[in-house]
Amino acid sequence: MTAPDAPRGVDVDKPSAARIYDWYLGGTQNWAVDREFGRRVEKVWPLIRPMSRENRAFMNRVVRAALDAGIRQFVDLGSGVPTAGNVHEIVRDQLPARVVYVDYEPVAAAHSRVILEGEDATEWAGIVERDIRDPEAIFADEITQELIDWSQPVCLLMITVLHFLGPGDRPDELVAAYRDQLAPGSWLAVTHGTCRDDAPPERAAEVRAFVDAYRDTSNPAYLRSDEEILPFFGGWPLLEPGMSALPDWRPDEAVSEFAAEVRPFAWGAVARKPS
Ligand SMILES: C[S@@+](CC[C@H](N)C(=O)[O-])C[C@H]1O[C@@H](n2cnc3c(N)ncnc32)[C@H](O)[C@@H]1O
Repeated sequence: MTAPDAPRGVDVDKPSAARIYDWYLGGTQNWAVDREFGRRVEKVWPLIRPMSRENRAFMNRVVRAALDAGIRQFVDLGSGVPTAGNVHEIVRDQLPARVVYVDYEPVAAAHSRVILEGEDATEWAGIVERDIRDPEAIFADEITQELIDWSQPVCLLMITVLHFLGPGDRPDELVAAYRDQLAPGSWLAVTHGTCRDDAPPERAAEVRAFVDAYRDTSNPAYLRSDEEILPFFGGWPLLEPGMSALPDWRPDEAVSEFAAEVRPFAWGAVARKPS
């Protein structure tokens, strides 16, 4: 299988974080330069691909559960390159519904545009090319305004993105700004990289080496503990089963062979805004 032509203006000579992530997920929107980089990361942290897939599988289960609960609007912050199992692909079977992707990486945004146009989805799905650290700009963006009615419940997804925010980005205040924007009945889904006490020491060392390797890049990553992740939900009631390792959040039949290895490193939860 070959990668499709690169969207205009997209550089395929340099690795792109969004396309590398696409490769972790088994997508097709990546080039040799991305795969080469990805393989190097995989040597440092062999769990990177299973972790990425667990995150995506969690997101898929959350979107399906939100649809079952009657939610028809989705905002996916830090959406990446929309590879297999995107929000709009799941939602497509249950239209009318609306999807807004948000990513600040031009490569991710360009690929998203091409995919949404190619799939004739632009009437009900769009990409906002902005920094999630500027919620007001995201709310004011014309694509968001056209697609999202904030007086109605929204499923807000923050999947594998908050670890890119450092303490100086004031992630607590930032997530609170998004919570305030949501109508009662909305859902907030968050996953986050962590390193729990029960992690096997050699695996914990790998994840720490991975984080260290990214420390001086333009995308430093931060692991957070339960105590740091839980406040993102602002005290809203968590949907069953509460905060859990990703493979354990409402697992479906397709539990991955890597679930046990991934458990200590990827946690998440979904909360519902009370009336
Ligand atoms: C690891 S990928 C996750 C993609 C997707 N949420 C998933 O779980 O499959 C993280 C994405 O977040 C984006 N991102 C990181 N920081 C961001 C920021 N401050 N504003 C917007 N996007 C951001 C990156 O460009 C990248 O595409």
